[in-house]
Amino acid sequence: MDFMELIRERRSTRAFLEKPVAQEVLESLLHLATEAPSAINLQPWELTVVSGEEKKRLSRLLVKRMKERNISCGPGAKKRLPEVFLERQRELLKTIEPRLPEHGTFQDFINEGSCNFYGAPTAIIISMDQAFSSARLTDIGVLVGYLVLAAHGLGLGSCPIGLITAFDTDIKEELSIPADKQVVIGVAVGYGDTAAPINGARSERASLQNVVKWRH
Ligand SMILES: Cc1cc2nc3c(=O)[nH]c(=O)nc-3n(C[C@H](O)[C@H](O)[C@H](O)COP(=O)(O)O)c2cc1C
Repeated sequence: MDFMELIRERRSTRAFLEKPVAQEVLESLLHLATEAPSAINLQPWELTVVSGEEKKRLSRLLVKRMKERNISCGPGAKKRLPEVFLERQRELLKTIEPRLPEHGTFQDFINEGSCNFYGAPTAIIISMDQAFSSARLTDIGVLVGYLVLAAHGLGLGSCPIGLITAFDTDIKEELSIPADKQVVIGVAVGYGDTAAPINGARSERASLQNVVKWRH
């Protein structure tokens, strides 16, 4: 597929087939994702690929903790966001809500779905050494961009899962990730269920005039 088309076409997948992703395909995905540029070529990312029984166990743990601690998906803002961003959040809700499975609210679907990696057979947990400052989170963001596009190019669906950072300590314990690392994000990876209405949701983007300023 043409790369420009790939960029335009990709959207997050929130319903997956149980079909596992073959080791070679995961390796191709990781080779492509780790081609991402990073400051001083530090490549500050560390990836833990969780599949099979381990992934099921991780999901069960995260769903349990989410319910115990009443954790909910949100924009992670320091104070009330300007209206323009709240409106974008409402727009996303309007896109997803009509396509939700029969039971439960949008918030329930997103919270439980995120902790379960939406049933994907593989979850990639991306962590970084705590010695790095928050400046290096940009590098991880670039990696995630490469990862989701590469996944799409390989015929896989994906969804970045920021919610899991609320369970940093639990995840590190469960996956034997050293305590001096920081869990930055997870990505659900698998074959998208094309019959699931939720996967037909297509979030829109603000027009350039709303996000770009030209100076001549
Ligand atoms: C850093 C980051 C964190 C995200 N965290 C979550 C999450 O926890 N749960 C979820 O369902 N989607 C999550 N998403 C997916 C976004 O909701 C999605 O990318 C956005 O609505 C745009 O839709 P699209 O990916 O379909 O283009 C996250 C995306 C990014 C980039």
